[in-house]
Amino acid sequence: MAPILEMKNITKQFPGVLANDDVNLSVEKGSIHALMGENGAGKSTLMNILYGLYSPSSGKILLNGKEISIDNPRDAIDQGIGMVHQHFMLIPALSVIENVVLGKKDNKKIIDLKKDADAFVALGAKYNMKIDPYALIEDLAVGQQQRVEILKAIYRGAEILILDEPTAVLTPQEVTELFKIMNQLKDEGKTIIFISHKLKEVLTICDTITVLRLGRSQPSVPSAGTTREELAEMMVGRKVILNVPKGEYKPGENVLEMNNVFTKKGSGSLDDVSLEVKRGEILGIAGVDGNGQDALIDAITGLTKVTSGTVKIKGKDITNASARTILEQKVSHIPADRHKRGMVAPMSIRENMILVSYYKEPFSKHGFINWKFVNENSEKIVEQFKVKTPNIDEAGGKLSGGNQQKMVLGRELTRDPDLVIAAHPVRGLDIGATEYVHECLIDERDKGNAVLLVSTELDEVISLSDKIAVMYEGRIMGVLDKEEFDITKIGMMMAGHV
Ligand SMILES: Nc1ncnc2c1ncn2[C@@H]1O[C@H](COP(=O)(O)OP(=O)(O)OP(=O)(O)O)[C@@H](O)[C@H]1O
Ligand SMILES: [Mg+2]
Repeated sequence: MAPILEMKNITKQFPGVLANDDVNLSVEKGSIHALMGENGAGKSTLMNILYGLYSPSSGKILLNGKEISIDNPRDAIDQGIGMVHQHFMLIPALSVIENVVLGKKDNKKIIDLKKDADAFVALGAKYNMKIDPYALIEDLAVGQQQRVEILKAIYRGAEILILDEPTAVLTPQEVTELFKIMNQLKDEGKTIIFISHKLKEVLTICDTITVLRLGRSQPSVPSAGTTREELAEMMVGRKVILNVPKGEYKPGENVLEMNNVFTKKGSGSLDDVSLEVKRGEILGIAGVDGNGQDALIDAITGLTKVTSGTVKIKGKDITNASARTILEQKVSHIPADRHKRGMVAPMSIRENMILVSYYKEPFSKHGFINWKFVNENSEKIVEQFKVKTPNIDEAGGKLSGGNQQKMVLGRELTRDPDLVIAAHPVRGLDIGATEYVHECLIDERDKGNAVLLVSTELDEVISLSDKIAVMYEGRIMGVLDKEEFDITKIGMMMAGHV
């Protein structure tokens, strides 16, 4: 069968970075085609070229065997290409349907919102997605926002749908739902290009896999008959330890102690939470997203009000103290939402590296920033965490998704913390970087520091934690010791059964 889409000899040069280097990609109609590769390998760049956001330095694109030119997303949409970005592009203050009709091709002077809304809801129903067309985007959870993005692309007539790391922000249940939708689209003859770092997912849902390495494409392979180990090696160029070993469990005194903590009522608020994390221990929090994990972290880091109960760090009561006071107790915080809380996109990497400590020695002296130290320190972190960038003056927002995450991780893990609060630390990271970050967290534990790990990936929680606390509706359903780690049991507790 002839391919529906071919990208031939695509090269894209950014200042100082060769993001795509003579890339070839050929995609069959009606298939799900995976694009994989390390952080910064050039996946998003290649797809942004296909969607008309970047123009390639050289190379051509063929649709159904005919060369086409795509100069902007308008052209892409006209050619039946839709894209859901790694970082969504919806306007938060507008409603779902307003976002959908923005830039639709047959917009007349007077827009009949009601008509579009009805058609959009009908389309949603076809794919089993229930969406309120008049809800504001900012009020929707990420999973719902993603559905809006997917439906929007289909509504605009996409025959080829690009999904750039759609599962990175989803819970396992939502991933299952997404896969159903993807299979339905495939059955209708639509073509999907799927980017993901998760080997299991790719092998489950995709027909064909293309790996990019250092900007260059490797020959595609069918997923049938390919193993996780082979894929990992194709991406990284070496064998990857898919499970990191750790030292003996020797817990010490409490670093974090929470007693009967409640937070302001609302969805996901804390309801009588008591918890401790000791030196030399990784406490994993398992739970379906939205069951109080965010409030838990916010209550510890001073970002939400504790209405009753106490939070202590190393014996000191820090209930409702300011975020800065709390971080000064040698607390590192890797936030769930790196864009909102972890970094400032237009700021340079070196500025992002001192966001939380710029006012302190050795980063500052007598009220002036010590740039010499800051620069050296930033260079060191960039090297250690393999943040892929031409230099530390690059804006943080220009880094690839995974490299932004590495920048935040590097800053937080090199602050010599006693307590590390890590929310979804490897979200968006490639397998090599995941391995490294897991090693870092275990290293913190082995050095005698305390780690609180929040993750919706049960595999990750089970393999790293010494104890697991399961959260459900703002409460701790129970704390399990290593001998009690059992997927079925944890799953039951996550659903509210003790
Ligand atoms: N607008 C830009 N300006 C300058 N450099 C860029 C820009 N966009 C991407 N790059 C660089 O191009 C390279 C490839 O980035 P890209 O976003 O395509 O990677 P990726 O494979 O999608 O990685 P990830 O898995 O982390 O999302 C990176 O080194 C990145 O820093
Ligand atoms: Mg990317």
